[in-house]
Amino acid sequence: MAVTQMTHAEVSEEKIERLLSAMTLEEKASLTSGASMWTTKPIERLQVPSITMTDGPHGVRKSRSGQFGDAEPATCYPPAVTLASTWNTELAHEVGVALGKESQAQDVQILLGPGTNIKRSPLGGRNFEYFSEDPILSGKFSSAYIQGVQSQGVGVSLKHYAVNDQEHERMTISAEVSPRALHEIYLRPFEMAVREAQPTTLMSAYNRINGTYASNSEYLLNDVLREQWGFEGMVITDWGAVDDRIQGIRARLHLQMPADGGINDRKIVEAVNRGELPESELNDVVRDLLKITLDLEEASGRYQGYDQDEHHELAYRVASEGTVLLKNNNAILPLTKRDKVAVVGNFAKVPRYQGAGSSLVTPTRVDNLIDHLDASFAPGYDLMGRTTPELIEQARQQAKSADKVVVVLGLTFLEESEGFDRRTYGIAPGHRALLEEMIAVNPNIVVVLQNGSPVSMPWLDRVDGVVEAYLGGQAGGRALADILTGKVNPSGKLAETFPKRIEDNPTYIAWAGEEGKTYYNEGVFVGYRYYDKKRIEPQFPFGYGLSYSTFTFEDLILSQEQITEEEQVTVGVTVKNTGKVAGHEVVQLYVSDEASSVGRPEKELKHFKKVFLQPGEEKQVTFELSNRDFAFYSARHKEWVTESGKFSIRVGNSSRHLPLEDHLSLNVIDPPKARFTRYSLVKEVQTHPIGMKIIDDMIRNLAGDFVKKSPSNSEKTELSGVQEVQNMKVGLTMKALILDMPIKNIVQFSKGQVSEDDLNQILAVLNQ
Ligand code: BGC
Repeated sequence: MAVTQMTHAEVSEEKIERLLSAMTLEEKASLTSGASMWTTKPIERLQVPSITMTDGPHGVRKSRSGQFGDAEPATCYPPAVTLASTWNTELAHEVGVALGKESQAQDVQILLGPGTNIKRSPLGGRNFEYFSEDPILSGKFSSAYIQGVQSQGVGVSLKHYAVNDQEHERMTISAEVSPRALHEIYLRPFEMAVREAQPTTLMSAYNRINGTYASNSEYLLNDVLREQWGFEGMVITDWGAVDDRIQGIRARLHLQMPADGGINDRKIVEAVNRGELPESELNDVVRDLLKITLDLEEASGRYQGYDQDEHHELAYRVASEGTVLLKNNNAILPLTKRDKVAVVGNFAKVPRYQGAGSSLVTPTRVDNLIDHLDASFAPGYDLMGRTTPELIEQARQQAKSADKVVVVLGLTFLEESEGFDRRTYGIAPGHRALLEEMIAVNPNIVVVLQNGSPVSMPWLDRVDGVVEAYLGGQAGGRALADILTGKVNPSGKLAETFPKRIEDNPTYIAWAGEEGKTYYNEGVFVGYRYYDKKRIEPQFPFGYGLSYSTFTFEDLILSQEQITEEEQVTVGVTVKNTGKVAGHEVVQLYVSDEASSVGRPEKELKHFKKVFLQPGEEKQVTFELSNRDFAFYSARHKEWVTESGKFSIRVGNSSRHLPLEDHLSLNVIDPPKARFTRYSLVKEVQTHPIGMKIIDDMIRNLAGDFVKKSPSNSEKTELSGVQEVQNMKVGLTMKALILDMPIKNIVQFSKGQVSEDDLNQILAVLNQ
């Protein structure tokens, strides 16, 4: 059931029923809220244990006192932004396994992660903790991570469900989002993870969605999560996200965190006693709670420790594969042994390697760049990112006498954290000032960025190299050194677009909401879907990243050119390393719907695969495409819909570099049945074979009343040309008006020839 990856025998249903019937109402209610900041309540007389949870997501933050920053040491892996930039889901799985082991070693039963909210704006304060602007990439990384953690008998909490994409007023803001964008973009990663990895728990978000708190929402917690997706686990509130606890029980919100001293437990007991809440609904919640608690308890205690060196090495591998080479003019990188290198920027010594807030891990150790690179060093700015004339002067001296200058810059902890959104799109002001000074004294500049989300680069044309190191985790410093010197060939790809200006981002006009609401006006056009549609040239596109090698794509082969919605098509492509060094390339597959009844993105990422190739080596990569890869979420049908027509399949190594393209015809045999109402439009009814006939007859009759007939030859006067155009205009307008008219109006316009009863009969026939 819930903890599907676990290898132990699961707690039986009989045992759960036995416990449930032995429990008092008060005991049942007591299980629905925490005992402390991080634990659940035990029921000792029935041997129901207490379980412990901790943040997450990129390391085990087992707090000593309940405060941030005082956690037991644990491996600090690179946060989600860097993990996703590897485009290597096997690595995400490995990180999950390692996190599972560390949780076991610290007696933690639920790790609070991963975070799979969508990066709507580069200004989102918590972007570093989320995977991508793309739902498919986010969903695949979430699934791999979850499967890894759960394989070790530890539960996860996939968060924050849902539409929690900004920090501004996060505990009250209402995300106003259309059903289509909700399902296609914001719920999609959750859906994928639930269907593929069955997370033990989900964390309900603080915010409201279209006015309803996530923790009160029967639609999200029950209808969508359980009924549509088949979720079998439990839902935990984000810390303090409970609103109406009784409504929460009705929606199947299992656990309120953290402890509230029993206030809401008492409310639940009273509501049951007063008959306002059926005890059966509380029982459903308690059954799930017991099941998961007992399963997790049973699976705990597998490891007492873990190999810190091995886990540090894994953190190193993630950082190496997640670092993205953005620019490399004149092959300024890799640095060679002959290069006299100056490194400037305090991040090279005191790196920014993780975000801030609930995810703040106490690392087991931290590597820095300067210890791993043969170079001179000047800090250039202080810990707060401020520079002074003395710091600048020191840096100038180092830079002047070097062949190449590596300038390490980015966002400081002051600019990016859980709890607030970024105020500006630029790098830290002190960092910018330092960079200008370095450009002035040396023409050979490589900028290294440490930041959790995109930054503007108005200086881009004046530097030769840019390495986006993101937040590299505790081994990021060494990984960076190895990238710069070519020991590691960079292979990271952006999991998000870097717009040239923040004004180009679709959220810019209404960010981050007003009067308690934040409007998702861009609909499904989030990230590259927007820049593509608007033909806006980004600074760096989604999926982009350079290598020290070169790759070509050839032989795109589709197993079939025509399929029905029940069939799959296999897509094969050959990728070849045409450069001089070994390296990874990411094969990305995008699908475009060539004609659709709804506005669709120019293309959508559907599959990707990272491959390793020696120089001259080639490999064939295959993908399976099925119905969902062509579908959109229809608000009208309240389900995913595929339409017959042509789709193009495009393959390459970035959303803006897709050299291969082929086409596929989809023939939908069983489209969703249209439901017609009196408000259905004439043009919609015409899509039904019987509807078409009925409507055509009616239109012929109706049109006669409105459109003056063309004059016969004998009636033609000198003005007949003018009159004829006039008539054609009227005809054209009438046709358009009629097509967009609801069929209820036929009753009125036919002056009773078609009665209300006739209309109802027609509807009955159409809806058969
Ligand atoms: C965060 C969650 C976190 C929880 C517990 C909340 O403020 O939004 O992501 O898991 O605190 O620390």
